[in-house]
Amino acid sequence: MGFSKNNSKAWALLCYVVFIAIAYVAAVEAANGNSSSAGEFNVMQFGAIADGTTDNSEAFGAAWKAACEWKGPSRLLIPEGTFLVGPVLFKGPCPSASPMVVQVKGKVKALTDMSKYPSDEWIVFQYVDGLVVTGGGTFDGQGASAWRLNQCPKKAHCKLLPTSLKFNFITNGEIRGIHSVDSKLFHMLLFGCKNLNVQSIKISAPADSPNTDGIHVGSSSNITISRSHIGTGDDCISLGPGSTQVTVKNVFCGPGHGISVGSLGKFSKEEGVQGLHVENCTISDTTNGLRIKTWAGSDSSSASNFTYEDIVMNNVANPIIIDQQYCPYSSCPQKGPSRVKINDISFKNIRGTSASKIAVNLLCSEAFPCQNVQLDDIKLEYNGQGEASTASCTNVKGVSTGIQIPPTCI
Ligand SMILES: *[C@@H]1O[C@H](CO)[C@@H](O)[C@H](O)[C@H]1NC(C)=O
Ligand SMILES: *[C@@H]1O[C@H](CO)[C@@H](O)[C@H](O)[C@H]1NC(C)=O
Ligand SMILES: *[C@@H]1O[C@H](CO)[C@@H](O)[C@H](O)[C@H]1NC(C)=O
Ligand SMILES: *[C@@H]1O[C@H](CO)[C@@H](O)[C@H](O)[C@H]1NC(C)=O
Repeated sequence: MGFSKNNSKAWALLCYVVFIAIAYVAAVEAANGNSSSAGEFNVMQFGAIADGTTDNSEAFGAAWKAACEWKGPSRLLIPEGTFLVGPVLFKGPCPSASPMVVQVKGKVKALTDMSKYPSDEWIVFQYVDGLVVTGGGTFDGQGASAWRLNQCPKKAHCKLLPTSLKFNFITNGEIRGIHSVDSKLFHMLLFGCKNLNVQSIKISAPADSPNTDGIHVGSSSNITISRSHIGTGDDCISLGPGSTQVTVKNVFCGPGHGISVGSLGKFSKEEGVQGLHVENCTISDTTNGLRIKTWAGSDSSSASNFTYEDIVMNNVANPIIIDQQYCPYSSCPQKGPSRVKINDISFKNIRGTSASKIAVNLLCSEAFPCQNVQLDDIKLEYNGQGEASTASCTNVKGVSTGIQIPPTCI
């Protein structure tokens, strides 16, 4: 009796366990939707149509949701073809999808109807740990239709057009082998990110397109940008407040406004920028090469520990420039000198041609002179007729070593 009683209990327990297991699998399958093979989520299975005219925003959102909820290695696939999409939010966390891969093989094209954009965003990745965006595909912001609406180069208070790709609070991720063309505003923006590797990216927009910055980094740390080709109408790479430990390596920049830090000090209590290393880059046909800019009359902040090394300049208007009186408009409210402290900035082995006579222009703050600026092996020749390049220093403290063309002003 005892035995059979126990036995029936065991059976009941077993049935219960099996039932739970089946229910669990069914639930996971339901949650995982139309996954063709485990962990792969093709947007086509969620109703996307690659005809370049259907708005696929919903299908992309649904595919992401399923991929993000998957337990195990997960992949959202955007296959070959042209997919029109409006604003899409790829939001995490995706706690069990690890890594969370987004493979873009095709072309993702932005809607041109501006009434479809409630904010300055097109595609946003947010709160994802272990995100990998890859696949060789292209994000086309179709900016040409919107650039004429951009008032920001002329006005301080202006409506921002959408940035193509925003990465907000992404950690331990990789963005590799994708293209971005003709963004309406910035191509890529990293905000609140940590431990991110951006590699083999190609970014392009016409030289005269407004505010089409290549990659903007703000409030982020340990970011590496390498092996990339960036040509835009604004900064190839720019660093805003709160950026620390940023490395830029083997990057080609041009056309555009160069590799910039700033503009810093626009707002009060802004975080500084600490630890930038730029190495083995070529900068061609740009308005600036290596630039640090802070607003005239700015609030207090800091920029320190930057090293620029092995950089080639081709026909760059301002190859090395620190501008602490930055004012992009015809006039800025004057509130005295900039209060952004700049120190420990080293330029080493910077060579090539300057399109203006002043190849080295260090205009620092009267209130806080730049400290420990190092010029080491500088060879920047003016490519105009018959004249030598010059250097200009204002409120700069530091040292020069090695070759100095133009003759150093430190
Ligand atoms: C799965 O695909 C079918 C058609 O292929 C579609 O009708 C259905 O809505 C999809 N299910 C989910 C969860 O997306
Ligand atoms: C920086 O990020 C990389 C990944 O891009 C990671 O491998 C490395 O450990 C991070 N370094 C630190 C100091 O966190
Ligand atoms: C420097 O960059 C160029 C092109 O970006 C690359 O081909 C070359 O291998 C890099 N050199 C080193 C030492 O990394
Ligand atoms: C300077 O920045 C580098 C990275 O670019 C970092 O490894 C180093 O620790 C920083 N040094 C200081 C004193 O902050």
